[in-house]
Amino acid sequence: MKVRVQADKCQGHTICAMQAPEIFTLSDYDGHSEAIAGEVPAGLEARVSDAVRSCPEQAIIIIPDDEPDSDSPEES
Ligand code: F3S
Repeated sequence: MKVRVQADKCQGHTICAMQAPEIFTLSDYDGHSEAIAGEVPAGLEARVSDAVRSCPEQAIIIIPDDEPDSDSPEES
């Protein structure tokens, strides 16, 4: 799986980076989080899932392996 932080939702709570520092890095500029671009290593998937659940802004989304990694907003 891959993971992405939605920049417009992240408020810099830093919980994600504390739970999975290998995956989430915080900007020195505004403290907002960014996720690694590649695949989440299998051994870190549980911690990434915890980070997704723990983010107060629900800013982190998991991209399943069978979906393209896209920044375009979901359309209904
Ligand atoms: Fe941002 Fe949520 Fe992490 S607000 S810094 S993605 S815990």
